[in-house]
Amino acid sequence: MFKRFKEGLGLLITLFMVACAGAQTVPEPESPAAHLFKERCTQCHGLPGTKRHTPEQWDHMLILMEGFMLEKGIQFPTHEKKMIQDYLHRNGK
Ligand code: HEC
Repeated sequence: MFKRFKEGLGLLITLFMVACAGAQTVPEPESPAAHLFKERCTQCHGLPGTKRHTPEQWDHMLILMEGFMLEKGIQFPTHEKKMIQDYLHRNGK
């Protein structure tokens, strides 16, 4: 009885983990830009979907985020910003 319960729980946890991994899939998953996006943009919140905004909106967002990073003393070098910006332009709404 308890064993069945544990098996059920294990399955649930597995399903949950798969669901979460699915939510984290990004466009061009193997590209350096995607890695950078995942690394830099999850430091304060969950990863935003790239289709959430148009390129123009992303430009605006990046300026905002750069401000937040500055406040927190997090470095956001220009070449990284450029890479993420290009990436979001390619994969935006
Ligand atoms: C230093 C912390 C920090 C980092 C790093 C950061 N953000 Fe944010 N981000 C915030 C905060 C704080 C908010 C909430 C702003 C608000 O609600 O007014 C936010 C909100 C957002 C939103 C709006 C959420 C929504 O509901 O649409 C988007 C999109 C976003 N960030 C994208 C990014 C991207 C892309 C990056 C990587 C370049 C990034 N963030 C990195 C702090 C950060």
